Amino acid sequence: NKGNFEHYMQKEIHEQPESLTTTMRGRLLRGGSCKAKTVLLGGLKDHLKTIRRSRRIVFIGCGTSYNAALAARPILEELSGIPVTMEIASDLLDRQGPIYREDTAVFVSQSGETADTLSALEYASENGALCVGITNTVGSAIARNTHCGVHINAGAEIGVASTKAYTSQIVVMAMLALAIGGDTISNQARREAIIDGLFDLPNKVREVLKLDQVMKDLAKQLIAEQSLLVFGRGYNYASALEGALKVKEVALMHSEGILAGEMKHGPLALVDENLPTFVIATRDACFSKQQSVIQQLHARKGRLIVMCSKGDAASVCPAEWESCRVIEVPQLEDCLQPVVNIVPLQLLAYHLTVLRGFNVDQPRNLAKSVTTQ
Ligand code: UD1
Ligand code: BG6
Repeated sequence: NKGNFEHYMQKEIHEQPESLTTTMRGRLLRGGSCKAKTVLLGGLKDHLKTIRRSRRIVFIGCGTSYNAALAARPILEELSGIPVTMEIASDLLDRQGPIYREDTAVFVSQSGETADTLSALEYASENGALCVGITNTVGSAIARNTHCGVHINAGAEIGVASTKAYTSQIVVMAMLALAIGGDTISNQARREAIIDGLFDLPNKVREVLKLDQVMKDLAKQLIAEQSLLVFGRGYNYASALEGALKVKEVALMHSEGILAGEMKHGPLALVDENLPTFVIATRDACFSKQQSVIQQLHARKGRLIVMCSKGDAASVCPAEWESCRVIEVPQLEDCLQPVVNIVPLQLLAYHLTVLRGFNVDQPRNLAKSVTTQ
């Protein structure tokens, strides 16, 4: 049921304040008798000790689910102190990459049925790793075959392009980082700030959804383009990959997410006054590096679209740069910022697709759940 919306993708983008609330329901505890702010993931509580003892955490997934894990990687590394590596399921299988008994392998999948991810799960399980699932579908193959896990509870997702599952996956993995990290005095303030940020997240997403018309206007300007580059780094490297994936899978426009730190090592050659380049430069520890990326792109006459935190428009894009477009988004705790930052890019991909006359909910050649390898 699409309710008042024309397409499932549109409905699923706009219902994210509610889907995120459902994802967190019963899992965040604040105040009360013990006063401490904590996270409770029922599906993991008996396995946290084993996970904390593992030598490595390896995230395994495909497509948007892989990108969600990439967005959560930095906070998991920070709070757990355990090395976190990333595997695209098919690539792990192609390489028969090493997986050990001392590993915790985390399988991220909206459907819980993706063949590549499921085969990687069999492989990791045979190699003796603790296998943890993060899925949206109760009773799915990945939910059944993992040793333990967390349901993201985002509600059924119908649009082939994953939107609300992506943001709920990031939130679950941020909660996973909090659960594994445990309570030490040294990280207490950081943990509490993240938990406060999680409580506030649905409101922040509601606020960023107000950019719908702004993103539609931008889509009108980009309607006939061949390509869109998206630059991000740190917490928002994943946002760049995921924003570009949305644009290519539904709007059928070439788009590439680029790690901004790699700009000088190739992508800069593409930059000219015609190619639209979207730079994510919200406030975090990488902000000044992103400012310098923006300056370098401008020096090469790049056609800039910059996403920045509220109030930063003038510092990322001086008034005399007339062709530069700025999109301001609400700021929140750095590790949760990707949840807000992806929303304008989801809206852009949605509007581009409708304006270009393509099928938003069922892009050609793609399936919601890819059950063959
Ligand atoms: C569970 C109930 C929820 C109830 C809550 C009350 C289910 C599906 N969930 O939620 O309805 O309100 O208790 O405390 O009955 N699992 C995997 N692999 C996965 C995902 C999950 O093995 O990929 C396992 C978990 O380890 C757990 C079970 O499935 O044993 C349910 O997981 P989850 O729904 O996340 O647990 P709760 O949030 O505790
Ligand atoms: C397919 C979908 O390729 O599978 C993508 O079209 C999705 O949207 C990917 O991200 C992975 O799916 P899942 O269900 O394992 O998250």
